Amino acid sequence: MNRFFQVACFICFCTPLYSQNMPAPGNNSFPAETVNTSILPEIAIIPEPVLMTKSSGHFILPENVMVQAMATPEMKFVTDHLQERISTATGSFISTSNNAASAIIKLVLNERANAQLGKEGYQLSVTPTQITMRANTETGLFYAVQTLLQLFPKEIESKDLAKDVQWKVPCVEITDYPRVGWRGLMFDVARHFFTKNEVKQYIDAMSKYKYNVLHLHLTDDEGWRLEIKGLPKLTEVGAWNVKKIGSFGEFTPPAADEPRNYGGFYTQDDIKEIIQYAKERFVNILPEIDVPGHSLSVIASYPELSCTPGAENYKVRSGERIMDWSRGAPPIALVDNTLCPANEKVYQFLDSVITQVAALFPFEYIHMGGDEAPKNYWEKTPAILDLMKKEGLKNMQQVQGYFEKRVQKIVESKGKKFMGWDEIMEDDLSPGAAVMSWRSVNAGIDASLKKHEVVMSPTAYAYLDYMQSDVIAEPKVYASLRLSKSYEFDPIPAGANPQYIKGGQANLWTEQVYNIRQAEYMTWPRAFAIAESVWSPKEKKNWPVFFAKVEQHFKRFDIAETKYAPSVYDPIFKVSRSADKQLLIDLSTEVDGLDIYYSFDNSYPDRFYPKYTEKITAPKDATLLRVITYKGKEPVGRMLNMPIDELNKRVGKR
Ligand code: ACM
Repeated sequence: MNRFFQVACFICFCTPLYSQNMPAPGNNSFPAETVNTSILPEIAIIPEPVLMTKSSGHFILPENVMVQAMATPEMKFVTDHLQERISTATGSFISTSNNAASAIIKLVLNERANAQLGKEGYQLSVTPTQITMRANTETGLFYAVQTLLQLFPKEIESKDLAKDVQWKVPCVEITDYPRVGWRGLMFDVARHFFTKNEVKQYIDAMSKYKYNVLHLHLTDDEGWRLEIKGLPKLTEVGAWNVKKIGSFGEFTPPAADEPRNYGGFYTQDDIKEIIQYAKERFVNILPEIDVPGHSLSVIASYPELSCTPGAENYKVRSGERIMDWSRGAPPIALVDNTLCPANEKVYQFLDSVITQVAALFPFEYIHMGGDEAPKNYWEKTPAILDLMKKEGLKNMQQVQGYFEKRVQKIVESKGKKFMGWDEIMEDDLSPGAAVMSWRSVNAGIDASLKKHEVVMSPTAYAYLDYMQSDVIAEPKVYASLRLSKSYEFDPIPAGANPQYIKGGQANLWTEQVYNIRQAEYMTWPRAFAIAESVWSPKEKKNWPVFFAKVEQHFKRFDIAETKYAPSVYDPIFKVSRSADKQLLIDLSTEVDGLDIYYSFDNSYPDRFYPKYTEKITAPKDATLLRVITYKGKEPVGRMLNMPIDELNKRVGKR
């Protein structure tokens, strides 16, 4: 950075910006214009703040920066974070003290709480000479810092010293607070194991967007990921399967001699370290132990917890087929992957697990799964039929309901709140149970009307494992969810009792996600959309404005070397047949301002090829349609190669 230029800018005044049709500012007011932030490329804050006014002028970061902050333990998280994020990229020297005199960045904890800001809100004021952040809590100040960092040039995301950047921040006044209190991402570390450091990397990215809950899906058929003292087989046996590559769900069943060395688990010390790391970024960790279904890793470790004898048959799943979904949910299990609700040992086992989970995780909720539990083995189990007689249970839903009530009691006996997927509502749900609504928005509405706390994470908007564009361009999953659809997510839908809606969450299941780079690809940019949906006022949401900001954040991610999906630029293929039975191909884009170029002659189109303007038909003998999107002269989309046979298949018979 040119220091002379910096100083020159530093002494210039903050000139108010107001348009001609704005009223002239009064003498005492801070004249400003409420701006549509994102049409100014310099300001692209995600999630959109509640209130922002911009004036002209900039704060220029000097070489030595004095930060004033009170010395509380949590404030140290905030100042350490600020110090690390700023000094790494800029090279400026940041020092902290409680002395206001020389400070140019001030972090102020309100002496008297500002009711509007609540527990997580903040105010941020940037003038040419000073940056002031105010909040009722350190959490609010942490979010003020995240907003401030987004106001810096994109190179602030660099993990090394970024040279030749003018470190300036536009003058703004911001008042901001979240729409909902639970802003979560779920990371499935069971289907594929992700290391402690990879989980931290995930937390780093999410905390920049003001997420405050990381839901760790710690157990499933494919792995048990948490050390439980006294139950060593959970991690000696349950954490390991056979490494398979390809399309998960269709793998050949492993042979007896294939090594079971793929997987891993977190020791309790690892978990403490992750929790501390998250805490320093104001993120809570929600642990999930998924029972009674999705429990093959438990059964493989302790077969006596199953209703179905056959210890030798139980193996941690390696992605082979174990369920028949042809008749819908719940699935028909081909292998019994459930804990047995009629077996007292199951409740003793869960008591041991929940005792340790409750001691380890400070968050007030424990998620106990409850989804997709097959019932076909229970139906054949004499002990279950006896239990039904004894307890007056009429059907298998009530058997699961009996199980859930007992598990809820165990969770509550450890001083925690019980949460489960919305299947836990299929039988009467006990008061106090919280519901994570995934199968539909209506399930969450229903739960809220029944006065259960609800976290909304519906597949239709918030399933990050779904494909982001056409199946020909993405790792194949059974459903799609485009960015624009995620952006429609409303955590407080019409008809719900808002008092019971805790918030919203997006879920990343990892059956098809083999590594952290792909986990990032699946998460971003859709997690931008969910972040704005759970933080920003509904009336502030605006798709074109949002997408303009997303493009700025793509540049930040490039610098941070965090992966994201460019799928939003992929064209959408629709097909139909003309009256004379010709295949009609309709191409469109999710975002405005893109041009689509195509070829049928197998060569790679660029912007000198035919530009798509209206429905096209394939030449008689063509086998391949290649398409690419451009923004002006720049290719932005990927080269997509669509077989004509595939289009014919989609439209049906000729
Ligand atoms: C789920 O997606 N099975 C909760």
